[in-house]
Amino acid sequence: MYGIEILVDEHKNILRLLDCMSASSYGILKGEDVDVDLFKKYIDMARNYADKHHHGKEELILFKHMVDTMGAVAEKLVNYGMLIEHDYGRLYLTSLDEALDAYRSTGDDKLKLDIIANTIGYVNHLRRHIDKEDNVIYTFAERELSDEIKKTVNKETEIFEDENLEKVKEYITWLDEISNKLLA
Ligand SMILES: [Fe+2]
Ligand SMILES: [Fe+2]
Repeated sequence: MYGIEILVDEHKNILRLLDCMSASSYGILKGEDVDVDLFKKYIDMARNYADKHHHGKEELILFKHMVDTMGAVAEKLVNYGMLIEHDYGRLYLTSLDEALDAYRSTGDDKLKLDIIANTIGYVNHLRRHIDKEDNVIYTFAERELSDEIKKTVNKETEIFEDENLEKVKEYITWLDEISNKLLA
């Protein structure tokens, strides 16, 4: 099902982003300078690709149709599970952003703790979230959604993708470059 296959593919890109974020945090731990601009770019991709583009498709298309048509179990999994987890991710990014701003303006060494903690908090949180979606939520949707709703999800996903093609390409090109550098 196209509407789910594309989400699974995006998870692979997001996991690569998380690996890079983890590698850069480990660099700080080993004594490297904090590359504030690089961490800001991580936040930019996390907010615009992982959240706006990927979670956007989940929230506006797949999860919406699951809640509308699959009953109480889907409603519980989505509204009290996945959507809350998306919000937790946003919270980590806000805290990381604030720590980076504070570090940039004060140079206070202690802020490295906040940078590492919020980055790794986000990385671990999203890895668990992705694992749950790949192995529970998406498989549940694939099994239970009607053929008609699957078609609707696929169609709406196609339109969403067409509207965001160029911006997505830019993020993936940047991710290829940075992961070649950091994860080789
Ligand atoms: Fe999600
Ligand atoms: Fe997801």
